[in-house]
Amino acid sequence: MDSIWTRDCALPSHPRLTGELSVDAAVIGGGMAGLLTAYFLQKQGLRTVVLEADTVASGQTAGTTAKITAAHGLRYTRLADDWGWETAERYAHAMTQAIESFARVIEYENIDCDFSRRPMFLYSTSDPQSMRREAEAAARAGLDARFTKETGLPFAVAGAVRVSGQAQFHPLRFLRAIAEQLTIYEHSRVREVSSSRLTTDGGAVSARHIVFACHFPFVNRPGYYFLRMHQERSYVLAIEGAPPLEGMYWGADQGSLAIRQAGSAILLSGAGHRTGENRAGGSYDRMRRTAARWWPDVREAAHWSAQDCIPMDGLPYIGRYAADEPGWYVATGFQKWGMTGAMAAATRICGLILGRDTADTELFSPTRFALSPSADTMLADGLEAARGLTRPWFEPPRALLSALPDGHGGIVEHEGKKAAVSKDKDGNVTVHRCRCTHLGCQIEWNPDDRAWECPCHGSRFAEDGRVLAGPAQRGLDEEN
Ligand SMILES: Cc1cc2nc3c(=O)[nH]c(=O)nc-3n(C[C@H](O)[C@H](O)[C@H](O)COP(=O)(O)OP(=O)(O)OC[C@H]3O[C@@H](n4cnc5c(N)ncnc54)[C@H](O)[C@@H]3O)c2cc1C
Ligand code: FES
Repeated sequence: MDSIWTRDCALPSHPRLTGELSVDAAVIGGGMAGLLTAYFLQKQGLRTVVLEADTVASGQTAGTTAKITAAHGLRYTRLADDWGWETAERYAHAMTQAIESFARVIEYENIDCDFSRRPMFLYSTSDPQSMRREAEAAARAGLDARFTKETGLPFAVAGAVRVSGQAQFHPLRFLRAIAEQLTIYEHSRVREVSSSRLTTDGGAVSARHIVFACHFPFVNRPGYYFLRMHQERSYVLAIEGAPPLEGMYWGADQGSLAIRQAGSAILLSGAGHRTGENRAGGSYDRMRRTAARWWPDVREAAHWSAQDCIPMDGLPYIGRYAADEPGWYVATGFQKWGMTGAMAAATRICGLILGRDTADTELFSPTRFALSPSADTMLADGLEAARGLTRPWFEPPRALLSALPDGHGGIVEHEGKKAAVSKDKDGNVTVHRCRCTHLGCQIEWNPDDRAWECPCHGSRFAEDGRVLAGPAQRGLDEEN
């Protein structure tokens, strides 16, 4: 399912890596985080290459809604509660700097990408108190934030936080201009990483500095990112025909939607769930019903979905990958705020590589181990993954193949074995092994996207078994 960005912005193609290269820095992943990091490194004079498994910006960045903001949900109340005010202030400062860095790059490179300054509104239709608390926390952390009930939305809110000076853009037009300046290899999945060498199917790169900007880091040890993150998927509906909206919006209530204008369309996003836990489906239909309630005469222009990594303690992982691999860096855990997150990562990783630690290096450091009061979330996360790894293997298949309706998928008994089976609308059957190729959890069918998903760490596979998203790097039928 194409997003409105991919529909109206084709990116030039790049060659596959063949042979051997030696560079200063190699970036794994050509999404927002990878391209920005490569851009800054190259501007600093480092010979840099980007290795992309598929095509540039074809990952989660293609499905973003591209609000460039420091107002990340009810973040400042949580940061202040869990980590204290100094952390909340540093976070606000880092994300505000990231907005200004986008503005500077866009101006400097003269990029036509619909960049526009907008206020960001966090809203609730039921809980004004949490909005008041967040307005106070965000203002105390340093944002230009205030409580209001005036939002411009087509429904009344009980309260909202208005944050000025935020922005939005067309992410792919921006990245097209950035990518033009870089050396990029597409269809070049990195299969192995040793201390200073990366191997793809067609070639190899030696690099003093290696940046994992591949969304979910796929090297399990060292780093152990699979123990400290899961992924959450959300759905986006683009509609035409509604009156234009001034602001960008994020709903705090259960089931509420994020909203922004994008050209003549309005994007609604939400219906989020842990990846691999959407067996019931119906996400797009629920959003269509909501849109029709707010604006009865609109028509659908597009729909798509994407996912992001959710770290267990509320802060992204930006910095050194692991203590015992000093030349490796990572940018991940953006919690659906990966525009400012990617910019913050790119500038910080570039600073680290050049030997310039910033004051907040420690704040985002992946090697931080201070346990915040959110440690209960960590425990819950770990338990969920552990349950995913073990439980379904003791469950029998959910049905016989014959009981699976046409047009559906599921874990069924096929030829005496448990298998992942999908049927098209004419009843043609596709069969795969039902083990995720990352660490072996049982995959689940997502009826909204007709894809297989792993509830443990969020890997995704197409109906034909190809990898759509990591940490898994092999298709369902590929041998180790
Ligand atoms: C519905 C939705 C809406 C969102 N809206 C917003 C928003 O409004 N504002 C905001 O700030 N954030 C938003 N986000 C979050 C944001 O889109 C993401 O955080 C961001 O796009 C992640 O970028 P990335 O570069 O880390 O990952 P990606 O864009 O996924 O890039 C990673 C790349 O690495 C490649 N790769 C993987 N493995 C390998 C390998 N082994 N070798 C080579 N390449 C590899 C992949 O193919 C991919 O292209 C949203 C997220 C969702 C789900
Ligand atoms: S994503 Fe880790 S086991 Fe599937």
